[in-house]
Amino acid sequence: MLHPHTIGIVGTGQVGMAAAYALFQQRIANELILIDRDRARAEGEAMDLMHAQGYVGRRRVRAGDYADLARAQIIIVTAGVAQRPGESRLELLQRNVAVFREIAEQLDRHAPEALLLIASNPVDLLTYAMEQLSSRPRHRVIGTGTMLDTTRLRTLLAEHFQVDPRSVHALILGEHGDSEFAVWSQANIGGTPIRGHTILGKRCDQSCRDALLAKVRGAAGSIIERKGYTNWAIGLVIAHLVRTIQEDQGSVLPVTTRLDGAYGLHDICLSIPVRVGIEGAGAPLPLPLDDEERAALAHSAEVLRGFIDGLGL
Ligand code: LAC
Repeated sequence: MLHPHTIGIVGTGQVGMAAAYALFQQRIANELILIDRDRARAEGEAMDLMHAQGYVGRRRVRAGDYADLARAQIIIVTAGVAQRPGESRLELLQRNVAVFREIAEQLDRHAPEALLLIASNPVDLLTYAMEQLSSRPRHRVIGTGTMLDTTRLRTLLAEHFQVDPRSVHALILGEHGDSEFAVWSQANIGGTPIRGHTILGKRCDQSCRDALLAKVRGAAGSIIERKGYTNWAIGLVIAHLVRTIQEDQGSVLPVTTRLDGAYGLHDICLSIPVRVGIEGAGAPLPLPLDDEERAALAHSAEVLRGFIDGLGL
């Protein structure tokens, strides 16, 4: 029997603990089980969070083993080696597939019913790897995909037009990486299309749009150069996804799932809008794309497919 507010986190590094903190502070989980090869670190992180219960109410946070995940409804996987400064996510790949083989075996043995939320990079390929390695249904494996890139774009557009980021409707799709693209044909501020319109006295012409997309694509690298890793925003993305699943919101989100025909793509994992609820990844909502965007999506798929063959799965 799965417990809806028991969440497992595999990997207590910077991303895993940013997610743990968000889940704890937002009262999304009332039981967090932290798994890490470095047991002492997992124990220390659990103790540190537990000491703040006085401000969030009774919550259980503890270090555990895979066997402790039996009743977790959702298990977040952030384990793996981190991106080095100047290293692309795809270069991380082989090092992390080996880690995933062990994780998939443990999770299938101890938590075969749980929904897996993959945040390790390269997230699209590792989501594909987990789907291949795990025996659970594919819709029960979701990657954080371009959720973070999409919020980065919305933040930049909100700054440009001086509006609330929640009034910005824009999407980044495809690979969570260098080949990701913006769906400018559908981007709008409160319903007014960005392309071709003056909004609150401002415009964002082609050069503005190109500059913003370049900033989104380079965001992780810029942060990693300065602090060595990214964690806070992705931690909040993970917490948002957990809440969406737990509350069966049916939100339409750009997450990494397995494509089986949308946009003519098969046997690939990347981000397109998908309905997300208690069961995990639901139906895709392949929004209309213009020719340039369709080509960009096809390019993203080809970049990823070039690495899938090398996964050895
Ligand atoms: C980033 C990591 C999560 O984009 O890939 O910050």
